[in-house]
Amino acid sequence: MGGAPIAPAGVDTDKPSAARVYDWYLGGNHHWAVDREFGRRVEKVWPLIRPISRQNRAFMNRVVSAAMDAGIRQFVDLGSGVPTAGNVHEIVRDLLPDGERAAVVYVDYEPVAAAHSRLILEREGATDWAGLVERDIRRPKEIFADPVTSSLIDWSRPVCLLMITVMHFVGPSDDPDGLMATYRSKLAPGSWLALTHGTCRDDAPPERAAEVKRFIDAYRDTSNPAWLRSAEELLPWFGGWPLLPPGMTSLPDWRPDERPNVIDLETRPFAWCAVARRPSL
Ligand SMILES: C[S@@+](CC[C@H](N)C(=O)[O-])C[C@H]1O[C@@H](n2cnc3c(N)ncnc32)[C@H](O)[C@@H]1O
Repeated sequence: MGGAPIAPAGVDTDKPSAARVYDWYLGGNHHWAVDREFGRRVEKVWPLIRPISRQNRAFMNRVVSAAMDAGIRQFVDLGSGVPTAGNVHEIVRDLLPDGERAAVVYVDYEPVAAAHSRLILEREGATDWAGLVERDIRRPKEIFADPVTSSLIDWSRPVCLLMITVMHFVGPSDDPDGLMATYRSKLAPGSWLALTHGTCRDDAPPERAAEVKRFIDAYRDTSNPAWLRSAEELLPWFGGWPLLPPGMTSLPDWRPDERPNVIDLETRPFAWCAVARRPSL
């Protein structure tokens, strides 16, 4: 990108932020020198970061399409990030049958992500059906009570709750199990809960596993330290709800649109994804 964008109030451009660095991984243009410098350092430590970021985004796109096919019309995207190609409301708008209504709520506590999301929704004239809640996902009750959420989302009807590349920023001291239970308890039968999460499986080649550990260490110094978790740690987060086929998989293996390439396959040991559906009472 050319000059640095003007920082909205409250944005700390001295410290890299996960939202802006992720935007850089995806080829967006809402990042500062500190984010790019950090992103380049991370890429040297773990070259798979860009492909895996793109796969996360592609998984999210496939889940939203599948939820639309299944008749779900409400979406809450936790840790939505800086808007980039293929945002939830764009997929929903493109797939929504004529005459039907949908609602999308983005949630992110990062001021650049929030400011830019608001701008896009205003510019597209989408604010009557899509909104941004600038809040911390670790405080779900504040998100539920926010006027944007309560005006758009009817929790008595199915919601697709997206937690894409965000829960690994919630550490053990923030009670992730309890947090997941609170979100699950808000969802009506027929709702979907979609998750992706960083991991380091036993089948990871040792040199790649060492890179991922260094990557996690690099994030310790940012506003968003990260934690990897195993499938055994993640599965209870779905509260026993059935997982939609094909179950918990690596990113390129969940209902792929196309055959994965060699790089896609190299990322397999480093992220889990799954979607659960809340059964009827
Ligand atoms: C790696 S980005 C993922 C963006 C998007 N979900 C995607 O997959 O394309 C993670 C996002 O989560 C946000 N985030 C991290 N911790 C958060 C928290 N506690 N509350 C709200 N947002 C958070 C960051 O600001 C960042 O925008």
